[in-house]
Amino acid sequence: MIYGKERIIPALVIFVVVMCTPFIVQLGGASVAPEVELPKEGMCIEAGATMKTSHMQILNDWRNSVVRDANRKHVSEDGREFTMSLTNECMRCHTDKAKFCDRCHNYMAVSPYCWDCHLYPTPKESK
Ligand code: HEC
Ligand code: HEC
Ligand code: HEC
Repeated sequence: MIYGKERIIPALVIFVVVMCTPFIVQLGGASVAPEVELPKEGMCIEAGATMKTSHMQILNDWRNSVVRDANRKHVSEDGREFTMSLTNECMRCHTDKAKFCDRCHNYMAVSPYCWDCHLYPTPKESK
């Protein structure tokens, strides 16, 4: 005997839907990245979409350019000039490492070791 079947089944359906909601929402969205705190003004050294997928490669190129060729000048696709520096350029705009780089990296389970040597600013009102 299956008792209360007419109640249990709908309850189960609701339970499963609720438990799956985060995944369903993610599937519907364009990206599975977490909320990160973006600078309120200014433009990144390249387009946002490019940065999302290629910042690791760009940083690697920057390091090689500085260390091997002593060239510290980055000219963006659209002709803007930047100084190749993780601390002084990237972190000048992305001032809160915890709410930007870390938030995404933790979510993606990557932990760049760069900060063993490179410094980052400590935000005044970090929580
Ligand atoms: C002049 C300010 C500025 C500098 C310098 C800068 N950024 Fe950005 N960055 C931004 C802004 C503003 C956005 C959001 C732009 C957008 O989505 O179009 C952004 C977006 C990004 C994104 C995509 C985030 C997302 O979720 O969409 C990544 C990753 C990123 N930056 C990494 C870097 C790295 C690494 C450096 C140094 C190599 C750097 N940025 C230098 C201002 C800057
Ligand atoms: C929108 C999400 C996102 C943001 C924001 C972001 N990253 Fe990343 N980052 C990633 C992902 C995902 C990877 C791993 C890529 C892979 O393994 O191919 C990665 C990898 C890296 C790597 C290479 C690490 C390795 O061991 O290969 C470096 C360096 C890096 N990120 C630096 C930064 C810095 C510096 C910032 C902040 C200024 C930043 N990232 C912000 C998503 C992000
Ligand atoms: C063992 C220490 C160490 C580690 C770890 C390290 N770096 Fe560096 N990095 C250096 C030194 C030293 C320089 C040369 C500094 C200079 O000439 O300005 C440099 C230069 C750079 C530069 C160009 C200049 C600058 O000031 O930013 C970039 C970009 C860079 N590294 C990125 C990275 C990234 C990305 C990681 C992590 C994936 C990383 N580094 C890990 C020591 C380190």
